[in-house]
Parts: sequence; C-alpha cells; structure tokens
Amino acid sequence: MKSYKIGILKGDGIGPEIVDEGIKVIKKLALLNGFEIEFVDEKIGGDAIDTYGVPITDETLDVLGSCDAILMGSVGDPKYDQMTPELRPEKALLKMRKTLGLFANIRPAKLYEALKAHSPLKPSIINGELDICVVRELNGGIYFGKQVESEDGQSASDEMAYSVPEVKRIAKIAFEMAMTRNKKVTSVDKANVLSSSRLWRRTVIEISKDFPEVTLEHLYVDNAAMQLIINPMQFDVILTSNLFGDILSDEMSVLTGSIGLLPSASINESKLGLYEPIHGSAPSIAGQNIANPIATVLSVAMMFRYSLDLHDCADQIESAVLKVLNAGHRTADLASNDQKALSTSEIGDLITEAL
Ligand code: IPM
Ligand code: MG
Repeated sequence: MKSYKIGILKGDGIGPEIVDEGIKVIKKLALLNGFEIEFVDEKIGGDAIDTYGVPITDETLDVLGSCDAILMGSVGDPKYDQMTPELRPEKALLKMRKTLGLFANIRPAKLYEALKAHSPLKPSIINGELDICVVRELNGGIYFGKQVESEDGQSASDEMAYSVPEVKRIAKIAFEMAMTRNKKVTSVDKANVLSSSRLWRRTVIEISKDFPEVTLEHLYVDNAAMQLIINPMQFDVILTSNLFGDILSDEMSVLTGSIGLLPSASINESKLGLYEPIHGSAPSIAGQNIANPIATVLSVAMMFRYSLDLHDCADQIESAVLKVLNAGHRTADLASNDQKALSTSEIGDLITEAL
C-alpha cells in the first residue's frame, strides 16, 4: 500500500481546531482510496516558544524536510509581540520557507457562486466567475535582503534584491500554472522605480518566450492594487515578488467574501510543500470551535494536487466543499443573521460525509 508522511504543525490560536478538520479529511480519503498516511506532529510559533524557547527548532526543520508534505494551521499571538524579531512566531515561518527552499507561494482566490453576496464588490464588477491565482516568490526579495540598523537607532534599511535564476524559476511556475487555467499571466512589479523590478520584468519576458500560448501583461504594483478592485475579472495568474505578493494576496482575499476560505501552498523544487490557510491565528476566537475550517480543507486539496500527485483526491475535496457550501451550511463568519452557524467540527464532518 502506498504510504505518505505528512508533517503536522498545528501552531497557535485556531490552528489546532482547523488542522484537526484537515486531518479528518485526509484520513477519510486514505480510507476511500486505499493509501496510508503517517502523521508527524511538530511544534511551531508560540507553541514551540512555550516548549523550546524558540519558534522552530532545527530538529523540527529536519523532520519536516523528510516529509512528503506539511499541513500547517497558523502561527502568532499578541502575547509574543514584544519578543525580539528572532524570537517572534513569524520568524519560524520565514525560516521554514528558506530552509526547505519553499520558493513558490500559490494563493488561489475563487468567489463561489453561493457566496457572491459576501464579496464587497458590486455585482456589476463581478460579472462572471472570479478566479485568480497569485504566484508569489517566497525565498527572496526584501524579506531576505540585508537588514541594517544604525547603532544610534536613527536609521534602518532593507535591501530588495533579485537574481535572474530566482525570477526564472518562479516565472516558470506561473506560466505553467496559466497553461492549466486561462493562459494569462499578469506580472506585477515597480519597474518604473526599482532596479530589481527592471530585472524582474526583463527575466519574465525571457521566460514567456517558452510559453507562446500564454498572454503576458505587466502592471505596476500601485495600479495592480487598483485594478483588483475596479476590474478583477481581467486577472488569471498574477506573478509577483515576495513583498508585493504579500500585500496583493491580502487584498485579493477580501474580494472573495471571507478570508476563512482561502488556501495556499508553498512548494520547493522537489515538490515538498507547506500547505496552510492564508488567514492568521485569530486568537480572539481560538478554542471555541467556531472558526471556518474550509481554507485548511482546501489547502489539503492543494497538498494532494501539488505534493502527492493525487489529483482525483484534490478534485474530490473541492467538490465536497462546494457541495457543503451550495447546501447552505455556514460557519459564523459567513452565516446570515437569521441562520444558525455551524461549528468548525460540524463543517468538517459535513465535508467528510460529502466525500
Ligand atoms: C503571509 C504572512 C507572512 C508574510 C508573515 C506572517 C511573515 O503575512 O504568509 O502572507 O509576510 O509572508
Ligand atoms: Mg501576508
């Protein structure tokens, strides 16, 4: 029997509750499709700080590196806001991305028909199926450039650097993604001001020659932020750098009505991937069994697709989620005033049954 090793990082806040629903779905699919799963629990974020004094240990990184895929909940809690940068829960995420070479961050945003009323955009703007995928570079740029703070505390700088190979490999992912979708890539940069963006644009144009069927457009990031609001239907795949992708993906998540629905994947050259909802740890609702587990469940679908190569399982999860949403089942973030909201585990059970 085929067996997969999956690293589990429940993390902080609502992390443990939503990951439990993801595990439920994985177990059900293993049963239905006849494969085995070995789950390996590790600690990250505040959870790791409380146990080991650091947000992620080298041993944990070693273990994760030996897995086929990693499922994560969320990290962060206001309790750790006063920590030095090295000890903040976010540091764990950055270290994991870098150490495991997770350079490609894939963040799809789809507005489901059943949830159209939840989008803050007018129906006249969303005149069709809104389905955008952000491909964000995750191992370079200003997140990993040289950081300097002057001794007197009066100045500080962050370097934004990109190399041609770094841009090439992420651009390739975006074009390949576009080939499986609507064959359009919008590359977002700030080439009118930044030299790293000029290198970015040059390199993306170079790579685009290998994908003649894909239409390539370029937008400056300020304009892209505006276009996402006034004409989001023009987008298919958005290819962009680490910082711009961070900002635009949050903006995009709002367009689909609930941040509780959006999954993400961060993958490396050998298909190892970290799968996590794009929302945070939501400490204010932690432990109440009311968080929306759908983003995590859809992250599991991405895991089956990109790391385990089990495309049927991925499709099955996505249809099960759709079925549950179409039947009108909602967690508190999406329930209407006159509707009884279902709990995290009830939604997880419904999705599992729908499988
Ligand atoms: C994200 C988050 C992270 C980032 C933080 C928590 C370091 O905002 O995954 O988008 O900036 O990349
Ligand atoms: Mg972010």
